[in-house]
Amino acid sequence: MIKACVIGWPISHSRSPLIHGYWLKKHGIDGSYTRQPVEPAALNAFISDLEDAGYSGCNVTLPHKEKVFQLIVPADETTARLGAVNTVFRRAGKTYGTNTDGEGFVGSLHQSLPGIDLNNARVVVLGAGGAALAVVSALLDQGVAEVAIANRTEEKARELRTRFGQRIKPVAWNAAADHLAESRLLVNTTSLGMKGQAPLDLDLSRLDIDAVVADIVYTPLQTPLLAQAVERGNPIVEGLGMLLHQAVRGFSLWFGVTPEVTGELYDLIARDIDPDYRR
Ligand SMILES: NC(=O)c1ccc[n+]([C@@H]2O[C@H](COP(=O)([O-])OP(=O)(O)OC[C@H]3O[C@@H](n4cnc5c(N)ncnc54)[C@H](OP(=O)(O)O)[C@@H]3O)[C@@H](O)[C@H]2O)c1
Repeated sequence: MIKACVIGWPISHSRSPLIHGYWLKKHGIDGSYTRQPVEPAALNAFISDLEDAGYSGCNVTLPHKEKVFQLIVPADETTARLGAVNTVFRRAGKTYGTNTDGEGFVGSLHQSLPGIDLNNARVVVLGAGGAALAVVSALLDQGVAEVAIANRTEEKARELRTRFGQRIKPVAWNAAADHLAESRLLVNTTSLGMKGQAPLDLDLSRLDIDAVVADIVYTPLQTPLLAQAVERGNPIVEGLGMLLHQAVRGFSLWFGVTPEVTGELYDLIARDIDPDYRR
């Protein structure tokens, strides 16, 4: 039996077992995917004993993404640039790590809005935390001309310019609304709008009506920001799509089958988040 898991501290909230469990069943694979609580002091030992414990690999979530990066061989340049991993796998006696959050975001964007073209686009990103790094890197790979980044701690937005170069334009957190005109995409990567957190307070009036509004927060499925965008008539992309798409490559690396993000999977996880969810 092939075994994989997700590690974090705490980990009880993770929906990854539901996602991978769906694909294991769908493809009739003799495998398992479980939640493993790993406290920070036990992280080193967990990663070095991964194979002895019978795991092909694991997903990594908060607070371990940066720490695990120090313990693995980066599998690709993007991961080396990000300095954080969410997916670990074993090959030829070595433990590799990669980061699939960026492709998760882009995969979700393209599945929600087929044909969307961000080449030469101006985009606005709110937030400069771990998820923002992956999203910004993926947007640059899509050929965007400029990423205006507004973050509460403005120094972190400036650090992204140092890391990613001149296409990054750090802007003041309270001036984000002024940069929406002529942007093709707005992405919230802060935790504002998440269940239990304050809502994101942003005036969308300067945003073109055909600009896309994406939120990577997925509890609730439709954040107040997305509800505001729907009300104005802007196309939206919900955060759950990113969670589903970031899981694809890990499954393929561990279990040898590249799975699909189906409507049925979306509905399954959406119902787990919100029992009243209806397509
Ligand atoms: N859909 C997905 O697959 C996916 C994947 C990863 C993460 N996420 C979600 O994305 C969110 C961010 O995750 P992360 O890993 O990037 O977290 P993180 O590294 O802790 O970053 C948090 C970000 O939110 C900002 N923030 C927090 N509280 C704020 C407030 N009161 N006012 C203004 N800004 C505030 C932070 O600004 P400062 O720098 O000023 O603190 C920072 O930019 C979480 O809700 C997470 O669940 C979703």
